[in-house]
Amino acid sequence: MPSEPGPPAQPAATPAHGPARDAAAEGLARAASAPSSLQLGPLTPADLEACLALDTSALGGLWSAQQWHTELAAAERPGLGLWQGPGLVGLACGWLVVDELHITVVAVHPAHRRGGLGRLLLEALLAEAVGRGAHHATLEVAADNGAAQALYGALGFQTAGVRRRYYRNGQDALIQWRRIGQEASSGDP
Ligand SMILES: CC(C)(COP(=O)(O)OP(=O)(O)OC[C@H]1O[C@@H](n2cnc3c(N)ncnc32)[C@H](O)[C@@H]1OP(=O)(O)O)[C@@H](O)C(=O)NCCC(=O)NCCS
Repeated sequence: MPSEPGPPAQPAATPAHGPARDAAAEGLARAASAPSSLQLGPLTPADLEACLALDTSALGGLWSAQQWHTELAAAERPGLGLWQGPGLVGLACGWLVVDELHITVVAVHPAHRRGGLGRLLLEALLAEAVGRGAHHATLEVAADNGAAQALYGALGFQTAGVRRRYYRNGQDALIQWRRIGQEASSGDP
């Protein structure tokens, strides 16, 4: 949950560029407890330090500075950040491979969880990917990560397979898969 209660009215947004704009504005409106100062926008290499700080607080230090630089610098790797003033409180990144979005990371600062921000970020990233021609979205989630599995399930992802002992700690990864865009309503997941 956000550290401060938000106003009942629609929160203000700085929309992301491109196709994520509408999803971002709608998402911020739906995130009823989001503080009015939240701003959603594309991540760039200038956000490296902020991403590293959020990586430490939300993910326990997942990626190095070099890995974050690669994530932020490549054109085929869309990334969105959610800011409260100068602080990055959430992010979602992916990698566009032909017509698939491979979601590489979704994270919300622990003080801001269960306020709809993870959903907002993921929906905005999916909208961005659809606008750039993606028809499917996929990712791996740890078998013991109930919060993330619940988030992906709530957004229509289905488990398409298991990668045994995928993570360094020996945990299995569940492969999540979803059609997105116009083809999302055409039948199979
Ligand atoms: C997973 C994560 C991004 C969710 O962010 P969040 O902002 O708390 O999620 P939201 O508030 O948008 O939740 C959306 C839905 O997801 C589900 N959900 C999210 N967190 C949940 C939890 N802890 N327990 C059960 N369901 C949960 C719920 O269905 C929720 O809808 P509801 O609040 O209406 O019930 C956040 O917990 C996080 O940053 N975790 C650490 C990083 C991580 O594991 N990332 C994913 C792997 S890269």
